[in-house]
Amino acid sequence: MPVLMQLRREYSESKPLQGVKVGGCLHVTTETAVLVRTLRAAGAETVWSGCNPLSTQDDVAAALEDENVDIFAWRGLSKDEYYWCIEKVIEMNPNFTLDDGADLVFKLHEDHPGQASKVVGGTEETTTGVHRLRALAKEKKLKYPIISVNDAETKWDFDNVYGTGQSSIDGILRSTNVLVAGKNFVIGGYGHCGRGIAMRAKGHGANVIVTEVNAVNALKAAMEGFRVMPMIEAAKIGDIFITATGCNDVITGEHMDVMKDGAILCNTGHFNQEVSVSELERIAKAKREIRPNNTEYKLQDGRRLYLLADGRLVNLGAAEGHPSEVMDMSFANQFLSLVYLAKEGKNMTPGVYEVPEQQDQLIAKIKLQTMGMKTDQLTPEQVRYVQGYGAGT
Ligand code: NAI
Repeated sequence: MPVLMQLRREYSESKPLQGVKVGGCLHVTTETAVLVRTLRAAGAETVWSGCNPLSTQDDVAAALEDENVDIFAWRGLSKDEYYWCIEKVIEMNPNFTLDDGADLVFKLHEDHPGQASKVVGGTEETTTGVHRLRALAKEKKLKYPIISVNDAETKWDFDNVYGTGQSSIDGILRSTNVLVAGKNFVIGGYGHCGRGIAMRAKGHGANVIVTEVNAVNALKAAMEGFRVMPMIEAAKIGDIFITATGCNDVITGEHMDVMKDGAILCNTGHFNQEVSVSELERIAKAKREIRPNNTEYKLQDGRRLYLLADGRLVNLGAAEGHPSEVMDMSFANQFLSLVYLAKEGKNMTPGVYEVPEQQDQLIAKIKLQTMGMKTDQLTPEQVRYVQGYGAGT
């Protein structure tokens, strides 16, 4: 993660995060450990929990604990244990939050409103978290400023696209070992994540089918050469289904009723609401785990459906999440956003903010340098030309 390492070197002398106690609620993976170490090198204290019951890499949590990081996370948490871990983070009185999905922020606001008012600032990592925060801010209930790291170009257009694209396929392969070539591969949602998955599934030789609710995004999928149809139609012909919408009930019992024997179902959206696991449980007469992270549901009529990673993020539940090269940029955004908030947070009113200006350009420049690539520079004449209105035919 060369960008993050460069920032660590740059800021470990000046320690701009001195006095900052970051309450983190974000997947405990190797890349997150690099972020935690970088925050600490810049002077921050950290207390951490995972943001999904299935995504913690236990060896990473143990390694961080060995380094005296207060960490409350292990793989396979129950819902109660999950919120217990978040409560532990809150108990340690963080004055900044770093969230992925906004569960920590919501717990603070719902159960500890007084404490939430004292938080100076926060960051949010994912699309679903940003949607929840914007909804809270719209009702004027958000109590402190939060930077939407997700919406940075160097995050959303890379992590969600290439990271989720590759790692979701990785999760499907690790938990099934199926051949993707020749399969009807149905993707619910053609946004950033869906686009990345479609690109990679196509590369594997799949027949990609997209379902959408947004006409523009559906059109983009169609012009990319993918078939677009309602889920009820796709359900009849799909071999592998993955949801990436941030919405709920994308695949429900009515879809499962018409699926082929052997269909594989999974989700890579933030919450496990996209494939209706409760309906699958209801219509099944038996279930058994046939491989790690792969549960076979036998239906009344004898058909079998396979659910991966319990319907939770398949790339984190059944694989290792995004590779470090792409998390480098996401976490450089996290780090620089916190440095900005440590300086400016007290002067900012509650609300959801974009990442600071120039942050994307800076991160992209460092990333390109570390990849051994350079861009051209505009000459003064070119600047005048592109910013002026004088030139015509
Ligand atoms: P996005 O906003 O770019 O795309 C979502 C797409 O889903 C949109 O095109 C939208 O029209 C479509 N959609 C919404 N409801 C739908 C429905 N009922 N049926 C079909 N399509 C529907 O969002 P992005 O960035 O792609 O994120 C999607 C989800 O993935 C979010 O929950 C986000 O938090 C999560 N995420 C997961 C990651 C992972 O590691 N697995 C990484 C990054 C994001």
